[in-house]
Amino acid sequence: MIRTRITEMFGIEHPIIQGGMHHVGYAEMAAAVSNAGGLGIITGLTQRTPELLANEIARCRDMTDKPFGVNLTFLPSVVPPDYPGYIRAIIEGGVKIVETAGNNPAKWLPVLKENGIKVIHKCTSVRHSLKAESIGCDAVSVDGFECGGHPGEDDVGNWILLPRAAEELKIPFVASGGVGNGAQLAAALALGADGVNMGTRFIATKEAPVHENVKQAILAANELDTRLVMRPLRNTERVLTNAAVERLLEKEKALGANIKFEDILPEVAGVYPRIMSEGDMEAGAWSCGMVVGLIHDIPTVKELVDRMVADAEAIITKRLARLTVAA
Ligand SMILES: Cc1cc2nc3c(=O)[nH]c(=O)nc-3n(C[C@H](O)[C@H](O)[C@H](O)COP(=O)(O)O)c2cc1C
Repeated sequence: MIRTRITEMFGIEHPIIQGGMHHVGYAEMAAAVSNAGGLGIITGLTQRTPELLANEIARCRDMTDKPFGVNLTFLPSVVPPDYPGYIRAIIEGGVKIVETAGNNPAKWLPVLKENGIKVIHKCTSVRHSLKAESIGCDAVSVDGFECGGHPGEDDVGNWILLPRAAEELKIPFVASGGVGNGAQLAAALALGADGVNMGTRFIATKEAPVHENVKQAILAANELDTRLVMRPLRNTERVLTNAAVERLLEKEKALGANIKFEDILPEVAGVYPRIMSEGDMEAGAWSCGMVVGLIHDIPTVKELVDRMVADAEAIITKRLARLTVAA
């Protein structure tokens, strides 16, 4: 067993969290991770309405009696989602953990706190992590440049970002981005983290509720196969390359600083359901981390979590312990 401030805070067995993932983080995914002793997270905005989120939370509760959370992503949008409605669904559904991401969640913290909900905010920099700490978040996920999804614009990898976070933060943090095995869990703990958060690795599991083509694409890819798109729009996203992504990058090159979001709509708008449920792997850009290079199998979630914890324990108590010698 590995006990940390994160396992204590969330009442979970292993310090492993499954980050919110658009069109992946359904009840099946979250329940599988929570049943394996980690913290599963339902992706709030994948549910089109607060009523559907309430239903998804109820479905998850039918599948697990362990703690699970809900992700709320705050992105700039013309018509903002019904955040108060989503938060009501979370509170009324008895969910006690929320993973926030994107914009500063300060506006929503009072209502979450009043309802006894712990908030873990996902950040891609030390300064945003410190901000999260100062506004009262309980923990942060520190998302390095390797991560699938939105790595921010600072381009600092976890080898530097995590020990920098450890220097500055008082609240616990988990290492997010690029994590896929037990050696990395042990390394994250060594660097000062209290656990790990994984996205991409959890997609390549038996229970992940996505089309088999997505899992096979992850197996086939290596660490050189991700691309950064939307950089000129300052909305950088790490995605798996495919024909649509290369087309998008060509547009970025051709249009330069004049590019607008409308120019790339065909490659990014509404593509998730086509990829994740229909398995159309050329439909557009979908988030995927460099950790694909370390993913070589499709285990059950429990097999993955158990293997990571056992490997981390063996590394800490055997391999590393053997390296130290009395003076
Ligand atoms: C397919 C996919 C979809 C994602 N969607 C979201 C999302 O909607 N909201 C969010 O906060 N993070 C999202 N993420 C980021 C993950 O929660 C997590 O921070 C990230 O995957 C960690 O990096 P890794 O993929 O290297 O493990 C997504 C990641 C992936 C791979």
